[in-house]
Amino acid sequence: MSGVVVLISGRGSNLRALVEAGLPVRAVLSNQVQAAGLTYAREKGIATGAIDHRDFASRAAFDEALAAAIEACSPELVVLAGFMRVLSSGFVARFRARLLNIHPSLLPAFTGLHTHARALAAGVKIHGATVHWVDEILDHGPILIQAAVPVLPGDDEAALAARVLVQEHRIYPLAVRWMLDGQIEQHGECLRHRLGLAQYLWAGVPGSTQ
Ligand code: GAR
Repeated sequence: MSGVVVLISGRGSNLRALVEAGLPVRAVLSNQVQAAGLTYAREKGIATGAIDHRDFASRAAFDEALAAAIEACSPELVVLAGFMRVLSSGFVARFRARLLNIHPSLLPAFTGLHTHARALAAGVKIHGATVHWVDEILDHGPILIQAAVPVLPGDDEAALAARVLVQEHRIYPLAVRWMLDGQIEQHGECLRHRLGLAQYLWAGVPGSTQ
């Protein structure tokens, strides 16, 4: 087993961050044939595949086809980067402890969709992104690294999403590198860096000493 298979559904900016960080992305698979990230991958000479979930009669049948396509690449890690399909427990079991996801909130807050709008509506003062191992529950599983950003006065959904995305592009390559280098140990529900490196980033207010 070697390298990484990345699963996407859309624009693929996290995919781009992984590639630009020099990570060994062996293939990119998408459930959306038109995903912009597939075009980017092709331009980079990375193998791509599109498996349209609408062509399958059931979630299990789609997941089976997806798992087979992944296993054909024998990757060390399967990296969800804006892959917007819920995966069945059978799929999760197949790739357990080597299936990573990035979610645009500080989990366990704001699982699911529209995280930035919901964070603004809730009036939280700190928001962010989380990289975690995937388990059977949506947007849940042992947390590998988180990045926190302030919610600033006047923020709208787009401004907050953009601030979080910058941090996503920092923490995801870091987390994938740590995994490939065997730096992450599991202690119960907790993932710890073997050398005790900080598993968080705080992108504070510019000019602030806090
Ligand atoms: C990212 O913000 C990622 O965190 C989010 O989708 C976006 C994909 O952007 N993922 C989820 O919401 C998964 N629950 P990208 O295609 O530009 O990487």
